[in-house]
Amino acid sequence: MSQKKKITVVGAGYVGLVASACFADLGHEVTCVERDKQRLGRLVAGESPIYEPGLEEILHRTIGTGNLSFSSDLGKAVAACDAAFIAVGTPPRKSDGEADLRFVLDAAAEIARSIRPGAVIVTKSTVPIGTGDAIINLIAKVRPGLNVAVASNPEFLREGSAIEDFTKPDRIVIGCEEEATAELLITIYAPLVGKGHPLVRTRRRSAELIKYAANAFLATKITFINEMADLCEAVDADVADIALGIGLDHRIGPHFLRAGPGYGGSCFPKDTLALVRTAQEYGVPLRLVEETVVANSARKRRMAMKVRHILHGHVADKRIAVLGLTFKADTDDMRESPSIPFIELLQRAGAEIHAYDPRGMDQARKIFHGVSFHHDAYQCAQDADAVVLMTDWESVKHLDLARLASIMKTPVMIDLRRIYPPEEAARQGFAIETIGRTGLEPQPVKIFDSQFLFSDISESTGTTAGQISRVTEGAAE
Ligand code: UDX
Repeated sequence: MSQKKKITVVGAGYVGLVASACFADLGHEVTCVERDKQRLGRLVAGESPIYEPGLEEILHRTIGTGNLSFSSDLGKAVAACDAAFIAVGTPPRKSDGEADLRFVLDAAAEIARSIRPGAVIVTKSTVPIGTGDAIINLIAKVRPGLNVAVASNPEFLREGSAIEDFTKPDRIVIGCEEEATAELLITIYAPLVGKGHPLVRTRRRSAELIKYAANAFLATKITFINEMADLCEAVDADVADIALGIGLDHRIGPHFLRAGPGYGGSCFPKDTLALVRTAQEYGVPLRLVEETVVANSARKRRMAMKVRHILHGHVADKRIAVLGLTFKADTDDMRESPSIPFIELLQRAGAEIHAYDPRGMDQARKIFHGVSFHHDAYQCAQDADAVVLMTDWESVKHLDLARLASIMKTPVMIDLRRIYPPEEAARQGFAIETIGRTGLEPQPVKIFDSQFLFSDISESTGTTAGQISRVTEGAAE
């Protein structure tokens, strides 16, 4: 079987565009289908309509080698392909939060009309368990007797590190019922498998559930550490140390233990809700995931209370500077961002909101009303009664605190990402409210292991090097 495959990807969004570029970069011949003419024009010119570090470089390279092309003609694009990947959106239905499969099923029907017998239709979008079966039934109606297989190949890409997550995956998951289908997908991913990245081959329904289970587990892990943060504030402990202390257990692991204002994005909120709905339909309540959904939603709103608390209950007519709007750093995505309910609640309480974000303001302008936007963090904080650190952008993580305090009306800081140690902020004159700890004196955390790689743990739990003191010298005494 030739290693080079003809692949069509339907949908040029966060998932489809990254998959198209990376499949082409693996050496396959890829056509990415995009219906939106304006978006298509930008893509053909090698311009990425989404902000994803490293993506434009791969687009230029693969368009240049001819491995990647774009088209609006789905029928023509799938006619000769070996595999057609569906990477269109599955937004939550407004009525009940279930995944809206309209776009997936429309794409599947259109593919079925033109795909050649023996090719494979693959769902890469996050789709509810059983969607592959629904597509098989749809094909039987649209083109009776067509011999094509349907497989599931979920992605695990994080926005802001999607290229890395695709090219160095923790694992590749393929779900299919036929040997030939598995062989084709294994061939497509062979360059990555050849570099030692594990490939999990399972049945289609299991692959569909693996995606939801992964996101629901990660969302639950984040919610767990967020609730530990609340407890730490009550019992005068430090959540960064809790994360460090439990994260060193290899069964828990140090990642996704950074307490924050609640998770956002286009996936965790949507996928946890969709999984809960699916489980309810099958009469199997997922109480943990249900609680995660409720706790996270409440947390985003509760963060606004921290502003009230540090301003002694008076928010009306106060000027609040919010630094960071996107749901996390290194993305322009505002979907389900914690900043949305946070700002809306403060506005409802009469606050005057000024906001800064290095990438998210174009999208933010469509969401917020009555917010003053600034392209510079210090301009945003000028004459503010309080500054809120909402998203841990590099530009927010490296502020000159003395300068910031000097230009504000009152140097008050609400740090929702544990960016600055409170005692450092206090030294610069700030009254500071943070998450997961009270008081200003950090308890130095001792690790009795000279081989421990501090950078790993500080990066993933937000513990600063200052709070971790290597004690091998002490141990040697
Ligand atoms: C997520 C999954 O990680 C990815 O595998 C899946 O394919 C898509 O959904 P993404 O939503 O892009 O990726 O971002 P991620 O980095 O997972 O962060 C999600 C949210 O959790 C963000 O709001 C982030 O701020 C928050 N988060 C993450 C925390 O609050 N603490 C953490 O330790 C990690």
